[in-house]
Amino acid sequence: MQNDSGTNVQKLINTAKTLVAGDKGLLALDESISTCNKRFAKYGIPQTEEFRRAWRELIVTTSGLSESISGAILFDETIRQTKKDGTPFITIIIDSGIIPGIKVDIGAKEMAGHPGEKITEGLDGLRARLAEYAQMGVRFAKWRAVIAMDDGIPSWGCINANAHALARYAALCQEAGLVPVVEPEVLMKGVHAIEQCGEVTAKVLRTVFDQLYIQRVMLEGMILKTNMVLPGLTCPKQETVNDVADATLQCLLQTVPAAVPAITFLSGGQSASLASDRLNAMNIRFKSRAPWALSFSFGRAIQQPALDIWQGREANVSAAQQALYHRAKCNRDARRGKYDGEKGVV
Ligand code: G3H
Repeated sequence: MQNDSGTNVQKLINTAKTLVAGDKGLLALDESISTCNKRFAKYGIPQTEEFRRAWRELIVTTSGLSESISGAILFDETIRQTKKDGTPFITIIIDSGIIPGIKVDIGAKEMAGHPGEKITEGLDGLRARLAEYAQMGVRFAKWRAVIAMDDGIPSWGCINANAHALARYAALCQEAGLVPVVEPEVLMKGVHAIEQCGEVTAKVLRTVFDQLYIQRVMLEGMILKTNMVLPGLTCPKQETVNDVADATLQCLLQTVPAAVPAITFLSGGQSASLASDRLNAMNIRFKSRAPWALSFSFGRAIQQPALDIWQGREANVSAAQQALYHRAKCNRDARRGKYDGEKGVV
């Protein structure tokens, strides 16, 4: 960050490094109220603040989570919530050795003049919100841009506008002493082939890094969170795990500067085991050559098996916590290239 003090620069670099140290990764529990409610609806879990609180309490009180998780991304509602006994979630997270982070965008909205595309909003008032979160003990933030693939899209207008917003968000985070997790996500929905996903992902990442440069974002003090290069969900040809690893790294090696300390993948709707398998293959094949850590920042791919078990019932809390612990550990193993499937556990 070119206009800031050396202390802030060093703080950002240290936080970014700590977030990927020890083969650990990030846990995203930053679903908005509506997304969390949608997930609950599938199980008939009441869509209330109390049930969202109970679900997040289950997650943050999972014993041993910090063996695999370095940082947890929270949502504004969650960061202000407490355990039943009144202990703030953020205190529990910090005391367990996990770094708290926060989602700061306010969502992807329909983009004017660009049917089928979205622009992420949330820059207005962001400086003040970041200052409040930093005061609360938060050390990193997240902003997600979504890029859809279909006939004629993504457009340059959508890619440029989202990249610009990501870069302005990242600069504000660094000014506030928070590491920005910069998340451009090319969505899996569609019939496109893996090669098309690779082309679009490369175009998006090049544009994002151009904008980060223009906005004077210090690459050593940020983390890239992005999609794996995958065939569309309804593409008839679905590549093997190793082919996905190769296509993803081919794209990233051409587009992501070596100064970036880490790439943390989102899971984007892949099953929990497939996401771990693919991360594992990337680390087996590229860990020794890649200039950045190849890590995870999974939401569904860590939470989903636990949610399947919990279903909103107190009696299922302990089993759900075991499943959550297990998935987190699977992904730490995948960072080491040591994930060996499910062995019938979850
Ligand atoms: O922004 C997306 C989330 O932080 C990651 O969630 O792994 O379920 O895609 P996901």
